[in-house]
Amino acid sequence: MSVWAVLVAAGRGERLGEDRPKAFARLGELPLLAEPLRRLDESAQVDGIVVVAPPGWEEPSILLAEQIGASKVSACVPGGESRAASVRAGLAEVPDDAAIVLVHDAARPVLPADVVERLLAALGEGFDGAVPALPLADTVKRTADGVVVETLPREQLVAVQTPQAFVASVLRTAFAGDVGAATDCASLVEAAGGRVKVVAGDERLQKVTTPADLERVSGWLHG
Ligand code: CTP
Ligand code: MG
Repeated sequence: MSVWAVLVAAGRGERLGEDRPKAFARLGELPLLAEPLRRLDESAQVDGIVVVAPPGWEEPSILLAEQIGASKVSACVPGGESRAASVRAGLAEVPDDAAIVLVHDAARPVLPADVVERLLAALGEGFDGAVPALPLADTVKRTADGVVVETLPREQLVAVQTPQAFVASVLRTAFAGDVGAATDCASLVEAAGGRVKVVAGDERLQKVTTPADLERVSGWLHG
């Protein structure tokens, strides 16, 4: 059973505010992209990787993969205007015989191996998809125009991370239609009626959004 990873790295990184895309911001000794790429390449479960690069940065992305010896990278394609468009571009490069697709944000560079194991175990139980999640520390309210509409039951809510794992055919079907403003892959699979299991996430999967996040994540590089 083959497992493919789509690593989406095509965002501009506007909130990080550097003179280059977030995937090429320095993290430790190398561009940020090197860390999630190395971790996926080293994962015993992952058979192949598609990198979705910032448009115009395909060549440096391929060179970086070669530099770190990421031998499972089979394609590198430019991303689209939205995350969903970038996922769709990557998915198009995943071979037809792939059984499972993991979609991961390059902006979450520190990917612990046991998260991948939990996701794949959930698919082994028969779920269409699986997502890593953390409980919420804060109370969450729905608001409109700065006024509280309702307070949501916190024990039912989780904050979802990546990688997200799916049965390949289910993910392809979910991305065949209008992807609209979807901010994660699971929401499209859910909308198509798929059953998505929640597994334990990891604090180190925090997304790098701001310079402070980059600083925090750099402390976990060798964890
Ligand atoms: N992403 C992508 N293509 C896009 C937008 C986002 O591949 N058009 C990827 C990013 O590279 C990142 C992940 O989706 O790995 C999550 O996006 P986000 O954290 O918002 O990154 P950016 O869009 O780069 O950051 P910003 O929103 O601050 O510009
Ligand atoms: Mg963004």
